Amino acid sequence: MPEHPAVLTSKPEWQALNERRDKLRSITMRELFTQDPDRASRYFIEGAGLALDFSKNLLTDETLTELMTLAHSCRLEERRDELLSGARVNVTENRPALHTALRHPGNESILVDGVDVVAEVQQTLNRMEAFVDGVLDTSRTGFSGKAFTDVVSIGIGGSYLGPKLVGESLQPFWQGSIRCHYVANIDGTDICETLRQVNPETTLFLIQSKSFRTQETLENSKVARQWFLDNGGDEASIARHFMAVTANVPAAEDFGIDADNVFPMWDWVGGRYSLWSAIGLPVALTIGMENFRALLAGAHAMDRHFGEAPLERNLPVVMGLLSVWYNNFWDAETHAILPYDHYLRSLPDHLQQLDMESNGKSVTESGQPLDYQTGPVLWGGVGSNGQHAYHQLIHQGTRLIPADFIIPLKTHNPVATHHADLFANCLSQSRAMMAGKTLAEARAELATEGLDEKAVEALAPHKVIPGNKPSNTLIMEKVAPETVGALIALYEHRTFVQGVIWDVDSFDQWGVELGKQLGKGILPKLLSQDAISTAGDSSTDQLIRKFRSANGL
Ligand code: F6P
Repeated sequence: MPEHPAVLTSKPEWQALNERRDKLRSITMRELFTQDPDRASRYFIEGAGLALDFSKNLLTDETLTELMTLAHSCRLEERRDELLSGARVNVTENRPALHTALRHPGNESILVDGVDVVAEVQQTLNRMEAFVDGVLDTSRTGFSGKAFTDVVSIGIGGSYLGPKLVGESLQPFWQGSIRCHYVANIDGTDICETLRQVNPETTLFLIQSKSFRTQETLENSKVARQWFLDNGGDEASIARHFMAVTANVPAAEDFGIDADNVFPMWDWVGGRYSLWSAIGLPVALTIGMENFRALLAGAHAMDRHFGEAPLERNLPVVMGLLSVWYNNFWDAETHAILPYDHYLRSLPDHLQQLDMESNGKSVTESGQPLDYQTGPVLWGGVGSNGQHAYHQLIHQGTRLIPADFIIPLKTHNPVATHHADLFANCLSQSRAMMAGKTLAEARAELATEGLDEKAVEALAPHKVIPGNKPSNTLIMEKVAPETVGALIALYEHRTFVQGVIWDVDSFDQWGVELGKQLGKGILPKLLSQDAISTAGDSSTDQLIRKFRSANGL
């Protein structure tokens, strides 16, 4: 136990939920569905073009009321209003977290240090529009006068995952003329394989880095720049082919990017919340500005829903509180994100950074050590592929793994009965998680198959599925700019709701800094010709020697 435990677990509201969990252990979801024929319609809420069926959860009306009471006691509504109005909710960096301003329609002001950030956002969107239109209508060309055909977006973390997800998700909306490539990894394979696919005359490079200090992005950008110069480009044409999105304009200029070619970022946007800013340029170049604005409108609709809907009908609030419920009261260590839509296949990757970088914290906002769990491990993948891999563990493993199933009602690709097949697969999984299969059912099934009594008894225990495993099902009409915007914004706010209950700063990420600091110390030891000086432990030193000897250093 920490010396000064945080107050959350001693709240009466917390204790009430502990007791509720104990009572719920004696009843199954199967029984809850049988007792209440209206359960599905009562636990169904809608907002911003999305709908959530949360009836397949370990939940009763009392549980829901108690979760809401906990939220009130943690001042969730006040904290939400602070977030949306631009208060300095990122306390350790003394900044607002105003990603919602990036998708604001521009009809009101939000002031940060006396500056209207909504107006700045609108100006930047107009600049983006002029740039995107110029590339797409080919009035803006490469150095040889040819139209651009490829964009290479160089960035990592939030400067990569969000645009990649949205770009893939909105493939049916691609305008057709621009192919987009993403380079993130410091593994040279990433940039080298990408450069093999493009032509310097027709390729635009976007250097995406809020800080313009991130090693991976700077090193990959240097390689791209040199490749461009070695393959027909010259210094004078760098300005036509290299753009940057950053809050650090001097560093971009030092790199050789013309100030006119820099799109701004702001301190009040966190990296993992930045896809709505000019960091979304690769997306805008592939789907066009009208669709990009529709994406922003979808996210804004979710912001309004989050800000206005009563807590018990509020999608991010209900999903955030359910996550707390399983994480802290049912010892769930992980949470599965299972999009049943091929276009949304990178959603788990984006949500991993969003949720785990935000809520992977061990002290309260005021720096007190915690005596409860914070962010669970998020993982997952696209259905139905996962059914032939990790779903076995979800159904019959010993751990409780709550899951979010995400599926559109309509497909962009109607072929044979595929979409109905996909939908049936999704429903079969959430039903199997909830209902499972009892020993009696397993025995009866095997007997019907003609097995003798001995064989039935031997096999039946292996066929038991415990069930009572919780899941949410999120549906939308179709994957489209508005629904994808709303979906990502939903998870952003869900992340914030959890952070409020856990009393952590969801907008800083000091933990990632240590690796960066240590990396700077180890690199010279790998490259140096001198006798090795210690990196601090014999394991690291041994691996450094192996690397040096393999590479002739
Ligand atoms: O990995 C930590 C992180 O700071 C993320 O939050 C951020 O999105 C990423 O690095 C990239 O940072 P930048 O945009 O400054 O290059």
